[in-house]
Amino acid sequence: MELYEAINRRRTIRGFSLAPEEETLRKIIMAGSMALSPDNRQPWEFIIVDDPELIKRISEHKYRQNQKIHPEVIALSQRNAYANCAVVAVCYKKGPGNHWCAWMCVQNMALAATAEGLGIVPSTLWAEDQAEVEKLLGLPEDFKLATMVLIGRQKGYPKVPKVKRRPEWIWLHRNKFSTKS
Ligand SMILES: Cc1cc2nc3c(=O)[nH]c(=O)nc-3n(C[C@H](O)[C@H](O)[C@H](O)COP(=O)(O)O)c2cc1C
Repeated sequence: MELYEAINRRRTIRGFSLAPEEETLRKIIMAGSMALSPDNRQPWEFIIVDDPELIKRISEHKYRQNQKIHPEVIALSQRNAYANCAVVAVCYKKGPGNHWCAWMCVQNMALAATAEGLGIVPSTLWAEDQAEVEKLLGLPEDFKLATMVLIGRQKGYPKVPKVKRRPEWIWLHRNKFSTKS
């Protein structure tokens, strides 16, 4: 798939019908590892999580966390997204700017997945749930979890989920920030 097509086609996918083969998964993770990083630090680590019990426990943390801020139906769908997909923890070594690098990995992974006819959702954890999941994953003290990434064949593929976009170019300025109608 051509790069701009992948950029335009990429959507966050929250329901999967099939996990990728290991070879495809590794291609997607390899794309993640080609991200930018300050001083070429490459501070990322990727953990493939394929232990069903561990996936269940992580998904329960996502559920519990989302219950605090979203209606039940959304919390449930965030938990259920962990079915029929590959589950990868994208982690980074603590350090200035390193968190951003991990998210650049995620963007590369999203585009690579799109090119493979797949999709991803970053399934983000924070506060106590993030700390608990970091423990479950055995992260050393000097590492953090950026996000879980769920990768798979979209339920209902190839129908692409719609997303509202801000009007084109409204976010573009020249020389100075301007407020425009
Ligand atoms: C930092 C960050 C965290 C996100 N966390 C989640 C998440 O926990 N669950 C989820 O369903 N989507 C998550 N997303 C995806 C966004 O909801 C999505 O990108 C946005 O709705 C726009 O849709 P699109 O990706 O299809 O263009 C996250 C995206 C970013 C950049």
